[in-house]
Amino acid sequence: MGRVAIVTGGNKGVGYATCRGLSKKFDGDVYMTARSEERGRAALEELRKEGCNVHFHQLDIDNQASIERMRDFMKEKYGGIDILINNAAIAFGMDATEPKGVQAEVTLKTNYWSTKNVCDILFPILKPGARVANVSSLAGLLSRMSDSDMKKKLKSSGGGLTVSNVLTNEAISHI
Ligand SMILES: NC(=O)c1ccc[n+]([C@@H]2O[C@H](COP(=O)([O-])OP(=O)(O)OC[C@H]3O[C@@H](n4cnc5c(N)ncnc54)[C@H](OP(=O)(O)O)[C@@H]3O)[C@@H](O)[C@H]2O)c1
Repeated sequence: MGRVAIVTGGNKGVGYATCRGLSKKFDGDVYMTARSEERGRAALEELRKEGCNVHFHQLDIDNQASIERMRDFMKEKYGGIDILINNAAIAFGMDATEPKGVQAEVTLKTNYWSTKNVCDILFPILKPGARVANVSSLAGLLSRMSDSDMKKKLKSSGGGLTVSNVLTNEAISHI
C-alpha cells in the first residue's frame, strides 16, 4: 500500500499552500480535505491547473461521522496514515460583534475540541514513523499569556492532555 498525507481545511489559506508544497515534496498521495465538497473540489481544480497532483476527501472536523468516514477510507486504501496536518480552524474577525465569551466558546469548539477529536479518531491508524503537525497561533504561546495564574497552571501541567482539557474549560468560564 502507498503512502498518504492529509491536510485538514485545505481549500484555502495555509492549508491550500501546504497541499501545494506537499504535492511537490512528498513521495505519496496528498489529500486536500475540506468541510465543503463544493469549495474543496473547486480548490482542487485550481491546484491541478498548476500541475499539482492532489486528491480530495470531504472532512468536517466538527462532525464525528465525517472523521470516521475518512478514517475508514484511509485504512482501507492506504493501510493507515503517514502524515496528518491539523490545519483546519476558525477565527473571528477583529470587528466581530459577538460577545467575547461566545467567540471563545465557538473558537475552542473547533480549534481545540474538534482537532483533539480528529486526533483521537485518526491516531489509532497512524503508521509506524508517521508525522503529525498541528498548525497553531502565536496567541497560544505561554509567553504571550497575560493571565499569570493560568500560565502557571499550564506550565506545571507539562502539557498533559487531561489537565489541558480541564484548563480549557476553566479558561472559558473566566471570560
Ligand atoms: N493566517 C494567519 O495569519 C495565521 C496566524 C496564526 C495561526 N494561523 C493558523 O493557520 C491555520 C490556517 O489558517 P488560515 O489563515 O489559512 O485560515 P483560513 O484561510 O480561514 O482557512 C481555514 C481553513 O479551515 C477550514 N475549516 C474551518 N472549520 C472547519 C471544519 N469544521 N472542518 C474542516 N475545515 C474547517 C476552512 O474551511 P472553509 O473554507 O469551509 O471555512 C478553511 O479551509 C489555522 O490553524 C490558524 O489558526 C494562521
